[in-house]
Amino acid sequence: MPHFKTFEILKAMKKVRKAVIPAAGLGTRFLPATKSVPKEMLTIVDAPIIFYVVEEAVKAGIEDIVLIAGRGKHAIEDFFDTSYEVEDKLSKDGKIDILNRLARIRDMANIISIRQKQALGLGHAVYSGRRIIGDEPFAVLLGDEITVNLDNQSSATEDLVRAFEQTEQSSLSVMKVAEDQVSKYGIAEVDEPNKQTLSFSSHHSVDFFRVKKLLEKPQPTETSSRWAITGRYVFDPKIFNILENQKPTKNNEIQLTDAIQELTRHNVVNSYPLQGQRYDAGDKLGYLISNIEFALRNKELTSELSAYLKALAQQIEKGSFK
Ligand code: G1P
Repeated sequence: MPHFKTFEILKAMKKVRKAVIPAAGLGTRFLPATKSVPKEMLTIVDAPIIFYVVEEAVKAGIEDIVLIAGRGKHAIEDFFDTSYEVEDKLSKDGKIDILNRLARIRDMANIISIRQKQALGLGHAVYSGRRIIGDEPFAVLLGDEITVNLDNQSSATEDLVRAFEQTEQSSLSVMKVAEDQVSKYGIAEVDEPNKQTLSFSSHHSVDFFRVKKLLEKPQPTETSSRWAITGRYVFDPKIFNILENQKPTKNNEIQLTDAIQELTRHNVVNSYPLQGQRYDAGDKLGYLISNIEFALRNKELTSELSAYLKALAQQIEKGSFK
């Protein structure tokens, strides 16, 4: 049945099965902690940041993850590998719950780790995944950001992946930021008046805007847009042809934002407002906030931590905290 076969191949082409997770930054904001431990391995409650990022990718249907790692990458690889000693001890002690959790982490995804030999920027990090990604659409999840979906919403990656499967257009997740935050992000100027909607099921649809122009970390005076790129993307593999020739710009780095801007010249690129909560765990304050909020949502810790935080807030209020 040749027709059936052709249809199956077309269907397979559209599916987003792979993701690149750049995790090669030097983590200078977290020194001295990151002198020997990659920042993606810093812990949020009881799992490293990278665990939550990989989990988001896997829940969105990603099967193969290309991890672009720098120094200390072994710690990340080991985390997703079997740990015979620990597992043997847990098994002998009958600690089945934690044993199962470790097994789930190990079996989460097929992780292929690549070393980014030079820190030439995010665009270069993503380009390093080309040989493994090949000619398939792929997601990018920045390794130091976590998004959480409350009330069973879908994650940013899940929305972008589903959207690609319907539209075959590259996309990025965006969020509104305050004016004083504009220079910290890639900013997307979007066609807001022509908002479009995609329906994934009878009870789940998402709004999106076409991207008109992108600027990497502009001054708020350089653009009126307040839509910031969040660190979640899905790309058509054409982006690799652009990245291949991309020259360094801002901070003398090969910027992913520049490559997407170039992509918009001949292809539609869409932006999807983020539905859930985002944590910038690569930033000191963002990291602390994510630990507190993740702990507050953890049943084992909710009540004692809430009581402690309330008492602490009162002390701060009275000015008696030393
Ligand atoms: C990167 C991107 C930027 C994006 C940001 C999201 O910047 O270059 O466009 O808005 O991630 O966190 P970085 O924070 O790595 O400097």
